[in-house]
Amino acid sequence: MTDARRELLRSTFGQDADRYDRARPGYPDQLVTDLARLAGLGPQSRVLEIGCGTGQATRPLARLGCRITAVELSPDMAAVAERNLRDFPNVTIEVSPFESWTPPTTPFDLVFAATAFHWIDPETRVGRAADVLRPGGALAVVHSEHVAGGTERFFADSQRCYERFDPDTPPGLRLRPAAEVVDEPGEFDRSGRFGPVRFRRYEWEKSYTTDGYLDLLMTYSGHRALPEPARDGLLACLANLIDGNHNGRISKRYLTWLALARRTV
Ligand SMILES: C[S@@+](CC[C@H](N)C(=O)[O-])C[C@H]1O[C@@H](n2cnc3c(N)ncnc32)[C@H](O)[C@@H]1O
Repeated sequence: MTDARRELLRSTFGQDADRYDRARPGYPDQLVTDLARLAGLGPQSRVLEIGCGTGQATRPLARLGCRITAVELSPDMAAVAERNLRDFPNVTIEVSPFESWTPPTTPFDLVFAATAFHWIDPETRVGRAADVLRPGGALAVVHSEHVAGGTERFFADSQRCYERFDPDTPPGLRLRPAAEVVDEPGEFDRSGRFGPVRFRRYEWEKSYTTDGYLDLLMTYSGHRALPEPARDGLLACLANLIDGNHNGRISKRYLTWLALARRTV
């Protein structure tokens, strides 16, 4: 992805922060339990979260009592996060791109990013994360991917809608089974700043009504960036499939994974 495209797409989340907060499904509870154990988090731990959005992953960490600084690009996303986290005096939200944010002098025990690390400059993100960690502190990155499963016929049929309305859709695209998604330690390893990467994977499904599914799609940067006529056509095409063939309800299968490594250098 070019820098310009990344800048454009990453700016879409704040266009409708309330929708994002309402429609995105959050993360499995077990992920936070595993993260806390692998990172050795306790109530006094200092955590930096990059791209907290509306605070969906921040809240369960805040409940552990960690002292969290969250750096968020979008003022609108940060405003919803402030609202969601108002009961947690242990959380501070700062509006800034992570790339130009000025860190405090005291280092962090954990740097964490949930569905946000890929929006940060790929040339500098791992190095900057390492720089603000204490030696032995952990960098934890969470990603989610839509994988094969759930209402499979709907997702196979929906490809026709994408091929018709979204010119970037590769012809014949099919969802990968979770087993084909391999763990990728490369970015940590190439930096030379981290020890071995530990992975945890979570497969889960969520059921959506037609409206709920369209709401979700309207939180995805790629869908938001489509020209309006194409986006309207795409959403109408998908709604017809869900209503016509699946009685107004489908299920989507997610693979969420956690990658965590400790700073060595
Ligand atoms: C897909 S959302 C994830 C939000 C949240 N972590 C969650 O799990 O729901 C990506 C978030 O990263 C933020 N973001 C993108 N680029 C950023 C940057 N350079 N610095 C800080 N935040 C950034 C976006 O504004 C958005 O809120």
